[in-house]
Formats: sequence, structure tokens, C-alpha cells
Amino acid sequence: MNIKQNDQKFIANTYNRFPVVIKYGKGSLVYDENDQEYIDLSGGIAVNTFGFADQAWIDAITDQLQQVQHTSNLYYTEPAVKLAELLCNKTGMKKVFFSNSGGEANECAIKVARKYAADLKGKDYYTIITLENSFHGRTITTLAATGQAYFHQDFTPLTPGFVYARANVFSDIEQLAEQNKCAAIMLEVIQGEGGVNPLNQEYLDQVAEFCVKNDLLLIVDEVQTGNGRTGELFGYMNFDLRPDIVTTAKGLGGGLPLGATILGDKVQNTLTPGTHGSTFGGNPVCCAGAINILQRIDDDLLAEVKQKSDYIINTLKNSKGIKNVTGLGLMLGIEVERNNQDIIRECIEQGVLVISAKDKVRLLPALNIPQDILEQAINVIKRVCAKTEHP
Ligand SMILES: Cc1ncc(COP(=O)(O)O)c(C=O)c1O
Repeated sequence: MNIKQNDQKFIANTYNRFPVVIKYGKGSLVYDENDQEYIDLSGGIAVNTFGFADQAWIDAITDQLQQVQHTSNLYYTEPAVKLAELLCNKTGMKKVFFSNSGGEANECAIKVARKYAADLKGKDYYTIITLENSFHGRTITTLAATGQAYFHQDFTPLTPGFVYARANVFSDIEQLAEQNKCAAIMLEVIQGEGGVNPLNQEYLDQVAEFCVKNDLLLIVDEVQTGNGRTGELFGYMNFDLRPDIVTTAKGLGGGLPLGATILGDKVQNTLTPGTHGSTFGGNPVCCAGAINILQRIDDDLLAEVKQKSDYIINTLKNSKGIKNVTGLGLMLGIEVERNNQDIIRECIEQGVLVISAKDKVRLLPALNIPQDILEQAINVIKRVCAKTEHP
């Protein structure tokens, strides 16, 4: 079968795919249909926490698969409860709603924020302040939350009730909160799709304080930054924040679809029977895999993530053709002098899978990528970036 041709023929044309058919992988190595080997630094866009075919994760999910694959949420199951307890214990938060994706985790957060504000202040307090250049998902409501006009075009009218503040400009928050009846502020501590841009500590402190003072909920979208990616379990922990709602997905499932909306003190009882639900949310197989993943994101692994991050930043930062490296942990953006798409293409040709984030080259490797494989890949990136356009 010609996979590339049939993909174009039968799959909706929403993705600009790289010209690689991925057939199998092990750890951070992946192979195409011709058994050509690649080092994967894209991690399924921050999903494959422990790379490909990770045995401990496979054991956890196959074990569960042989018992119960699905029950519906009309019955109790152990994996979801165990995973929720782990998430609460590790964050100090109170309750979890499970879904299947980042977009859905954010939908739930938005519903919780609206209901909380409606109960507390009245139904017209539904506006949520999000940030310009943010990314929160592709459903009509999470698109509305996404502060990028590019994603909005063609799909209006979007869900009303979102206004956008410039990232790191606190006066925008004050002004928008003054002009609108607000329920919450929602942000990514590092804007991932927006170009791997971390927010400032001072700004985040101001926003957090403002939320407390004005009874606005602080929602942190940890879909990309969560689950050890930044060198802490969740990105907000790098900034000492105490969000009211944390959303996550991607790396929590490790390759199976799973979303989680983690609820803090204030909002733990906002959802009541019938107010939200999901057929597959809390699926026992996905949750069994996630328990395995979460248990392995311990202090040693997080220290390893930080060490590898330092290695990448120190190797690339002042290297020829590279202007800057942004991000935290193993969520890094390389600001390059040449066109990033050319660099990504050349890296792939040389056996290293990297992706873009706006005009940067983005790295999201498996958290347990072996140092020698990482060094090999970083040397390729360094060489490709140093190439001049017209030799
Ligand atoms: C910060 C953030 N939020 C939400 C999403 C949407 O997640 P999903 O594609 O699982 O719906 C993404 C996906 O890239 C993301 O990076």
C-alpha cells in the first residue's frame, strides 16, 4: 500500500505531514517503512513520556486490558480512582475530572469556571481572560480561548466570553478585568504552540495575587507543560503558583488518549451529577498506563530532565546559527538564524525528528532519552543550524 498517497486520498487534509511513515520504535529511536532509523526529539508533541514501546507502560496497560477495557462511568473502577488520588496527592488539589484530550480537559475547566462564577457572583460573570498567542485546543470553545486570530478564521462565530491580554503585560489583565465581568484567568506558563515562550515570574506573581484579591479562578493549562516535561511535575511548580484548576493530557496518557481537569479547594464541588460527563473519560486502560507513568516521574527523573535540559541549552546557546534557546526542561525552542522549516527538513534528512513552534525549532524528547543518543541528535542540530544558506 502506498501510505502517503492513500493518506492524502482518504484522510481529511488537516495536517502538513513530514515525509516519514513511522512504522515502529523503541525508546527514543524510531524506524520508517524502509527500516531507516531516526532519533525522535518530537515525542509525539510531548506525549510519549517514556518514548516508544516502553515495557513497564505496556505491561501496565496490557494487564488492565486483560481485565476490563471499559465499563462506562455508571460503575466504579479502580484505575481512575487510583490515578485521581495520585494526582491530588502530588498537587495538593482535591478532585479530578477525566476526559480524553487536552481540548476536552480545557472545556471542562471552562465549564467549571463559568458555573463557579455563576453560583458565586451571578450568571453574567462568565468572561475568561486568556493570553494573546496562547493555544488551548481546537473545539469551538477552546478555539475561542486560544488567543490567536489565525486559528479563529473560518470558524466564527466562536463561543462568546473570552478576552485576550498581552502575555507578560499585567496592566492588560487589570484593564480587561475592569471592563468585563470575569470568572477566571487562563494561561500556559510556557506558551507551547505559541513558540515556547515562558511567562515571567513577576507577571505570574501579579496575576496570581490579582486572582485571589478579585475572586477570579486561576486556570493553568498544563496540557503540554505537564507530567515532568519542564523538570517539575507540572510547569506551574517552577513558578510557585497555586492554581485553582490545572488541565493536563498528552504526557499523562503517554500515548493513549487521556485528559484530566484537576480541581482545587474552591471548585472541588462545583460540578454536580449531570453537569458534565464523558463516555471514555477515566478509561481503565488509559488510567492504568497513566498511573505507571506518574509513579515514575519522581525526583530522580525530574533531576535528569533538568540535567539534560542544561546540556542542550549549554551546547546550543552560543552555537553558530542559533540566536537563543527558550523554554524549560525538555520543552525547548531554538531560535535559529536560517528558516526553521529548512532546518527541520535537513535534521529529518540526517535522522533527527524535530518539529516547529512558530519560527523556532522545538524539542520535546522522551524524558528518559539516553544521554548518548541525545548528544548524537544535538550534534546533528548544531551542525545543521551552523550551515550557511549560501556556502
Ligand atoms: C497548551 C495546550 N492546550 C491544549 C491543547 C489541545 O490538546 P489536544 O490536542 O489533546 O486536544 C494543546 C495541544 O497542543 C496544548 O499544547
